[in-house]
Amino acid sequence: MFARLVTAVLFGALASAQDLGVPTSWREFSNNRSLSERISIAQAGINVIAANLDASTASFSGIGYWQNGNVFSAMANQDYFAKTTTYESTVVNALNTAYSLYANADQYGYNDDAMWWATAAYYAYRAYGNTDMLTHAIKTWQHVSAYQITAAEASAGSTSVKNFSLSGTCDGKSMAGGVFWRPTIDDQGMNSITTGLFLTLSAYLASATGDTSTYLDPAIAAAQWIQNVNINSANIVLDSVNPHDCTRSSASWLFTYNTGKFIEGLAVLSDVTGDSQWKTLLTDVVAAGTKNAPWQGTDGIITEAAGDTSNNDGAGFKAIYIRGLNEAFVRNQDDWDFQVLIHSYIDVQYNALLDLADNNNAYAIDWHGPATSYTAWGQLAALDVLVSAISANT
Ligand SMILES: *[C@@H]1O[C@H](CO)[C@@H](O)[C@H](O)[C@H]1NC(C)=O
Ligand SMILES: *[C@@H]1O[C@H](CO)[C@@H](O)[C@H](O)[C@H]1NC(C)=O
Repeated sequence: MFARLVTAVLFGALASAQDLGVPTSWREFSNNRSLSERISIAQAGINVIAANLDASTASFSGIGYWQNGNVFSAMANQDYFAKTTTYESTVVNALNTAYSLYANADQYGYNDDAMWWATAAYYAYRAYGNTDMLTHAIKTWQHVSAYQITAAEASAGSTSVKNFSLSGTCDGKSMAGGVFWRPTIDDQGMNSITTGLFLTLSAYLASATGDTSTYLDPAIAAAQWIQNVNINSANIVLDSVNPHDCTRSSASWLFTYNTGKFIEGLAVLSDVTGDSQWKTLLTDVVAAGTKNAPWQGTDGIITEAAGDTSNNDGAGFKAIYIRGLNEAFVRNQDDWDFQVLIHSYIDVQYNALLDLADNNNAYAIDWHGPATSYTAWGQLAALDVLVSAISANT
């Protein structure tokens, strides 16, 4: 179905302002596998890493704390999109374990860690209707919300949670809406991943609870901060800005997960608000990320972290990006060109994994291959592609 329409898109008029046409240089941008086959492939991939679960700490040997949370996110989303409950007890037990071990499920004192787990808890609520999971997510949101700079704090130049002065603006743009990376009183870090996670979690909670008066303004402020302060002229999301002295991360720090988490947040925000400005921005960011980003060659296959020989944070980024794209896909079924672009991009990654990087359901971190023996970080990176291929194909 999609393969036929890709042709129509390529030769048809590109009416939208944004060119959403699928590059013909992409490697294998469609897939014929049946739904049941795609579900089995994803479950087999999840089961490989699940065999390495230490349930007492909700962790997997070989990956870090935030990455562990993302394995449970992939499991919950697998069940949500496949309409199954295969991983329900694993996911619910793991989240309850993390929340009982660490306040806000935050082992090391990072707001992004807390929100990786809170987002996993939201996905578990979405997949299983388990309200304890929603409660976990809300508690973490309440904790982190104190670290979002308000408009009043930006004008006052101070916040009660930090002991240094704030620059109300950086490069002429308000710093309101940005979220501090860490709760630590003297830590000045502020970045797109923490702010993008907060945007996304706020938008999900607005839709899950109906309490838009609590969650919507913080979501919008976070989206505006990334839009105004921390995205480059090509619509690729940048990494960090220091809200005390306005120093920035290198312009070359372009990571898939910053753009990916912004995409997920905008997709949900656009739905919850019905405000078309967010859909327009979402479309621009998706087109930039899939067609003009530094993390893929002309074949479309993502190369970020491909050379890793041991785990590091970057190994987990591309999974977050594909998850965000998939959320944009499932929420925009009525926008054909946009859907075809995302579907095609996800299938490029899916076909690369299956054709080039698969060793008996263990996947190499280099999606061009060659296949390797199992590594936890390579497996984590692949999970969201396997899961997203369930929903992003017909
Ligand atoms: C899908 O099936 C068609 C018809 O059998 C075949 O020509 C095409 O190569 C297949 N595409 C993929 C990506 O497997
Ligand atoms: C801020 O807090 C840190 C850590 O407690 C402390 O070392 C530093 O002196 C404080 N700075 C100010 C300006 O109070």
